[in-house]
Amino acid sequence: MQSLRRLGAGSAVGPVSLWHDVGALLWSERALVGRVIGLVTLNRAAALVMPVAAKVAIDTVIGAHRPQLIVPLGGGVLLALAIETATAARTTMLTGEGTQRTVTTLRNELYAHVIRLPVRVFDASPAGELSSRVMDDTDQVRGLVGPVVVTMSGAVIMAAAALATIAWVAWPLAIGLGLLCVIAMVLVARAYARVWAALGLVCERHAALGARLAEALVGVRTIKSRGAERWECGEFQRRSRALTDAVLGSVRRTARLTAGMTAATGAAGVLLLVIGARAITAGAMTLGDLAMIAYLTGLLATPLVQAAAMSGEVGRAGAGLARIRTLRAVPNEEVEDRGAGPVHHVLGAVEMEQVSYAYGAGAYVLRDVSFFAAPGSTVAIVGASGAGKSTLCALLLAFDRPTDGRILIDGRDLAGLERRSYRAFVAAVLQHDVLFSGTIADAIRYGRDGVAMADVQAAAALAGCDGFIAAMPNGYATVVGERGVRLSGGQQQRLAIARALIGAPTILVLDEATSNLDAESEADVQDGLDLLRRGRTTFVIAHRLSTVRAADQIIVLEQGRVVERGVHEELIARRGVYRRLYERQWRGDRRRRGSRGTPLPVSRAARVLEDEL
Ligand SMILES: Nc1ncnc2c1ncn2[C@@H]1O[C@H](COP(=O)(O)OP(=O)(O)OP(=O)(O)O)[C@@H](O)[C@H]1O
Ligand SMILES: [Mg+2]
Repeated sequence: MQSLRRLGAGSAVGPVSLWHDVGALLWSERALVGRVIGLVTLNRAAALVMPVAAKVAIDTVIGAHRPQLIVPLGGGVLLALAIETATAARTTMLTGEGTQRTVTTLRNELYAHVIRLPVRVFDASPAGELSSRVMDDTDQVRGLVGPVVVTMSGAVIMAAAALATIAWVAWPLAIGLGLLCVIAMVLVARAYARVWAALGLVCERHAALGARLAEALVGVRTIKSRGAERWECGEFQRRSRALTDAVLGSVRRTARLTAGMTAATGAAGVLLLVIGARAITAGAMTLGDLAMIAYLTGLLATPLVQAAAMSGEVGRAGAGLARIRTLRAVPNEEVEDRGAGPVHHVLGAVEMEQVSYAYGAGAYVLRDVSFFAAPGSTVAIVGASGAGKSTLCALLLAFDRPTDGRILIDGRDLAGLERRSYRAFVAAVLQHDVLFSGTIADAIRYGRDGVAMADVQAAAALAGCDGFIAAMPNGYATVVGERGVRLSGGQQQRLAIARALIGAPTILVLDEATSNLDAESEADVQDGLDLLRRGRTTFVIAHRLSTVRAADQIIVLEQGRVVERGVHEELIARRGVYRRLYERQWRGDRRRRGSRGTPLPVSRAARVLEDEL
């Protein structure tokens, strides 16, 4: 939540905007809301029959000795009961249906927004947190639609009808009860605001717990390999406790509110008894009147007590809506790209003009990077770990805009281009690429419907996948990923390459595309990649000399700066950073330090290393 706020989302979500959201939600289901209100009105009208019948039974049937009215009275009450039951059942069904539809629409819309958010938003918030927004916060809204429509409209209709009926026999009492109702409603509304705040905290901590769980499940191998199960349980329990504290806080508030409402209605009952008894003894009211008023007061109070008891449910929904609103306020790429020029064609001339970049408010990780890549040429980017190679690729994929400087694609500033249409001309194999579960064929044609099987097979053959796919039980129809066959790191990488080969990209970005492959497999894949590179502007980060050697241009990065640029021979002759990298990385000039002997504590090992260097 906080990380999202930092990204410029609306920080204060007041009750006014929340009621606005609730109104918008109800408006989107206005036809159904209208039907529900109609049913509730019928239901409440039917509920009024019973107290009126009680008055008639006491005053007329018993008091005036008219036993012939018993059967029609009983029949009328039964009919009213039947209507009450049927309308209640239909209301429950309709609200259930409407609620589910609202949640589904809200969730789908939120997902469509989230998936289009810029990469920096995902970097700034743990994955579990965003998934909790999409799954849990939207689900909380369930508590709003039904209760708000049914209980609130029921309460208002009932209040009006009951007060009017009471006014018929004792209007000063009706005014008194009406005033009490208004005071109770104001108090409930104010208490709601406090419960809302407490439940916001519950949602936040729920998301934090979910985020930790998601992280732990993904990293279960790391947990086990470090024997950190106990430690991880401690982390989980700490967050669990924080969540429990928040929940207890909100339960306390809800309980206080419900108790207050129950006490208030009890007091109203006592008041009614005192006033009624005095009025009857003074001859101003009949026994039947008192019975009816008592019954009506009960009907009047029930929705108010219900509204108080529902504060938890409605509060959670409000808190969920507030969090959804905060997330929706973060502009997504489509919003940011409004007014940007669509890209219909890319030749592949890529130029960086003094590009500098910093992640968020952090330090610069790229500084003054400039180069020109002619269409169809291959640029190798080399440099030590953390030098900024993947960051440079990310900028080429328009994951973010440079902090300073410009990237020109065919002479057009990338910052002014519509990212979605630009990316249609770019294919990438990323350092931490992900394959989605499904069949092998689906994994290769991912995101592009209608790619012919022949193209899928051709791409797989070029990427050197055909061998292991043929060995699988169902070939291209084998399900891989979460619920299917597991692939080795190298197999996954080759599938990712095959996926990049689908379509007709003009710009290729290969970030360590073959780092998981052994020399033999790499040689196979390399042929495919060489074919693929032909005619395409290619940026390649590779740790194999053969790839780098073949590049038209090698860019050497050191701490985010371009320190050398040229072709392999030139750079070797220069005896600079590239030469050093070359000698270390490709000449196998690694001394084996500390591989034998007694284990050193890490602090001493670091000192030994420093001395050696
Ligand atoms: N999402 C991120 N948020 C903040 N800083 C980041 C992020 N990704 C990378 N960095 C930082 O940017 C710098 C450059 O990282 P980058 O991933 O570009 O390096 P690299 O050259 O690709 O390294 P490697 O060879 O290890 O893949 C590093 O100091 C890293 O800590
Ligand atoms: Mg990298």
